[in-house]
Amino acid sequence: MVNNSVKNRIEKLRELINKYDYHYYVLSESLISDYEYDKLYKELEKLEKENPGFVTPDSPTQRVGSDLTKEFPPLKHKVPMLSLANTYNEEDLFDFDRKVKDVLGEAAKVEYVTELKIDGVSVSIIYRNGILYKAATRGDGFVGEEITNNVKTIKSVPLKINDINKNYLSSELEVRGEIFMEIEAFNELNRSRMLRGEKIFANPRNSTAGTLKLQDPKEVARRPLDIFVYYLLAGNSEINSQFESLKELQKLGFKVNPNFKLCDNMQEVISFCNEWEIKRDSLPYEIDGVVIKVNSFEQQKKLGNIAKSPRWAVAYKFKAKQAITKLLKITWQVGRTGALTPVAELQPVFLAGSTISRATLHNIDEIERKDIRVGDTVVIEKGGDVIPKIVSVVLEKRPANSQKVKIPERCPVCNSLLYKPEEEVAIYCQNSNCPAQIKGRLEHFVSRGAMDIEGLGKSLVDQLVDLGYLKSFDDIYKLYKHYDELIKIEGLGKKSVNKLLASIEKSKKQPLERLIFGLGIRYVGAGAAVKLARHFGTMEKLMNASEEEIESIYDIGSSISKSVKSFFSNEENLRIISKLKEDGLNFNASSITVDKNEKIEGKSFVITGSLSSLTREEAKDIILKYGGKVSSSVSKKTDYVIVGENPGSKFNKAKELGLNIIDENQFLSFLGKS
Ligand code: IVH
Repeated sequence: MVNNSVKNRIEKLRELINKYDYHYYVLSESLISDYEYDKLYKELEKLEKENPGFVTPDSPTQRVGSDLTKEFPPLKHKVPMLSLANTYNEEDLFDFDRKVKDVLGEAAKVEYVTELKIDGVSVSIIYRNGILYKAATRGDGFVGEEITNNVKTIKSVPLKINDINKNYLSSELEVRGEIFMEIEAFNELNRSRMLRGEKIFANPRNSTAGTLKLQDPKEVARRPLDIFVYYLLAGNSEINSQFESLKELQKLGFKVNPNFKLCDNMQEVISFCNEWEIKRDSLPYEIDGVVIKVNSFEQQKKLGNIAKSPRWAVAYKFKAKQAITKLLKITWQVGRTGALTPVAELQPVFLAGSTISRATLHNIDEIERKDIRVGDTVVIEKGGDVIPKIVSVVLEKRPANSQKVKIPERCPVCNSLLYKPEEEVAIYCQNSNCPAQIKGRLEHFVSRGAMDIEGLGKSLVDQLVDLGYLKSFDDIYKLYKHYDELIKIEGLGKKSVNKLLASIEKSKKQPLERLIFGLGIRYVGAGAAVKLARHFGTMEKLMNASEEEIESIYDIGSSISKSVKSFFSNEENLRIISKLKEDGLNFNASSITVDKNEKIEGKSFVITGSLSSLTREEAKDIILKYGGKVSSSVSKKTDYVIVGENPGSKFNKAKELGLNIIDENQFLSFLGKS
């Protein structure tokens, strides 16, 4: 074929495949047989292979890249991706309607669009000149992570928009929506994971989130991801309302959930919510509520945003699903800090897609408050979180001889006497050599958020502790000495032991913040660990820091500083840390900042007063992310004082010192936003 006709044929094939994909994945209708489709696809693949110069990024063959995604770089959202305030009943909804009318005026005609609230992961997708350019997660609402390669694998996401009127072909267009997995496809995925001995996902949403963070697009392509799009941001469009937006998105070839409605008043909105609360189980995917949006864009603009969410939209959350079952037994689990957590062992019952046989009881106070007893018939509930909880007891069904739950006096694992601090609800095992505590500490150390040692999961850690190979963190880095024994452990073998040792070796390079978090210092969560690492820069400096210096860090209080000091004055802890140093672990903080931002990097900020478009917490996170420092008090060293509404005395002090005082908008302009 001559070049021109090859090019024409390639284009024709793409057009056909795109059309068939659209009908199959977006409209759920099949126009041709799988055989015919495969034939076309193979022909396209062949022609492109022979003529690599003709390959374009929007070709259907380019959905699945062959390279691993090494990192998910940060991507700033043009317009922040806000979250929604929640409502739970009619009263809340009428309240919302009232507030809308307080702003727009009593006489204003307000229409609402109701949409299903898909329980998935939100995503922003940018098209340039009609071609998919980049996709990102929501992140903190301002900066997300770029996951373009993974989003491209989703067949219902068009790589090229179908813009007949060419309105958007010469500009940038952004759509936002929810990526999800259908329930049946999710169950199937879990079944095959179980067969392969892999960890199963708790629910479709977790599974979606996990999949979107995979580094191998080929694996992502195998997972049954899908999307519903609900938001269109286009510079030069003539769309004036949410309802028109949804229609336009459909026209452009996006998959829009068909169950949306234009409502004239709140009563209609409420009917829609009630209808779908009943019908939710008939859908092949999970929804957790209804989203209600003021239809007119002009009215949306007048209403504006408060803190993290818009004033023009709200989520109506469905009630959590409940089931009734019997409490068979209460077991006490000993965590890494020695705290005992009661766990309810239940008669297995099916609830919201899975069989439940355990529920958390949090602590003894909760058991007493709800007067929960072994043998009771209980109502359990699965909320947004994975672990179900006991909501109440059906008292009428309580056995006559039932007794209140007894607080254990001895540790169920090591049998040492338990202790209950006056000011706490928890009871503790005080034996730091208790095998349960040792296991808990090690599991935490190797976990994803900490040293992230792949292949060293809970059950292997437990086994290695029982075998006597692991007791403290430094033993992990001596595991290679037990190579001959390790390869004999059932299910391990040479290959996986080699892999395990390699990931242990790799973990030595983890930045300081992960190591600090992994040490499991009381009150030091992942966030505090980052702040400590950023402030001190090295482990040695942190170890030698005074309580005052630790507390001078924004948002670090006296309980953390005391706990850090006490951790580093314990002989055994010091021994472990010096061993870790000998083993070659990295004791330096990471210096990775998100994007370069010269206005923020290296500068110190103080925030006073309340901000309107973001919370102080978010502002702080942004500053830290871009390599700035946030401090709680004003001094000569402060570079900028961000002043919100009703500022405190810091404002006056800043004026006295003649510091740079900026308002929220000026701060946002540092980020290229207003
Ligand atoms: S609108 C400001 N519409 O729910 C507009 N969100 O808490 C916010 N979601 O982060 C988004 N279905 O992940 C919108 N039809 C829908 C939605 C929806 C699900 C999710 C989305 C958002 C969260 C809001």
